[in-house]
Amino acid sequence: MKKLLSTMLAGVLALGLSACSSKPATTAPAGDSGSKSNLIGVAMPTQSLQRWNQDGENMKKQLEAKNYKVDLQYANNDVNTQVQSIENMITKKCKVLVVAAIDGAALTDVLKKAADNGIKVIAYDRLIMKTPNVDYYATFDNFKVGVIQGQYIEKKLGLKEGKGPFNIELFGGSPDDNNATFFYKGAMSVLQPYIDNGKLVVGSKQKDFTTIAIQGWDSAKAQARMDNLITSTYSKGTKLDVVLSPNDSLAIGIVASLKNAGYGTADKPYPVLTGQDCDKPNVLAMIHDQQSMSIFKDTRTLASKVVEMVDAILQGKQADVNDTKTYNNGSKVVPSFLCDPVYADKENYKKILIDSGYYKESDLK
Ligand code: BGC
Repeated sequence: MKKLLSTMLAGVLALGLSACSSKPATTAPAGDSGSKSNLIGVAMPTQSLQRWNQDGENMKKQLEAKNYKVDLQYANNDVNTQVQSIENMITKKCKVLVVAAIDGAALTDVLKKAADNGIKVIAYDRLIMKTPNVDYYATFDNFKVGVIQGQYIEKKLGLKEGKGPFNIELFGGSPDDNNATFFYKGAMSVLQPYIDNGKLVVGSKQKDFTTIAIQGWDSAKAQARMDNLITSTYSKGTKLDVVLSPNDSLAIGIVASLKNAGYGTADKPYPVLTGQDCDKPNVLAMIHDQQSMSIFKDTRTLASKVVEMVDAILQGKQADVNDTKTYNNGSKVVPSFLCDPVYADKENYKKILIDSGYYKESDLK
């Protein structure tokens, strides 16, 4: 993992690649190094998923390149731990807080404290809910992530050409993550018409978001739900053609369940299966025909966008945003910058992931 991260960090500096046209954060020192007034707190949810490690490391590297000091903390997906580390950052008098929330609605009190101390807050990737004390939001276009997953299924199955019916099962992300419903709604904006006209059949009939949601984006929980679906619906010869998985951690659990049930042979191939993040094990799963695609969200791009926001805030300027309508957190509409997601699959992953410097060919062995 260490080697992989350093490879990717080298990629950040070499490329400053951008799906949302932001520049690499390597020039023009904005900070007064050594001064506490330059401390930026970065709170990430967990080290257990590859993507958050990359996000954290990219943020640290890019902020330090601009002479900021960085307090980077992970919280093992535990809400109280995250609240506590944000409290510590406030005590240390950080200037800006960058937070990828575990539970979007659990930070109201601690962010009130931040505001009382004049600290600005940027929501990173996930919207922070139920507080006026969040200044900006930087993310990938979450609805579009779902749309791309839905369109991939549409194309793979030939739904536009009238093919079908196909049996589908649907999975949703963690209900405490605002992104999860955006992913689901985006995907269903493409898939629902085919469910309505009978070309897609949800074998289990489980469609409602709360029924299909997987708490904590947990692979084991996704595996257990897939096990149940196979037993209840697909054990007597009914073919499973496609599974909508919102991200890679769920896809890992779904593949494990399918594998245990004997999928992956000529007679019983894996269903079309979506994902998100292009985590290394999932890229390998794509190469081995276990997972069909994964949304690629270049964490280098998101980090450089957030560093631009930090700069703007500390220079007393308005940060660059491109969406002032979509992300209502229940207290206000948070000015947002949405980066553009794309997909990778077995056909294009070399171009998307290797030519861009995100992975080396040798990382994918
Ligand atoms: C992120 C996804 C990630 C998921 C699980 C979501 O908020 O947008 O990229 O797969 O959390 O960590």
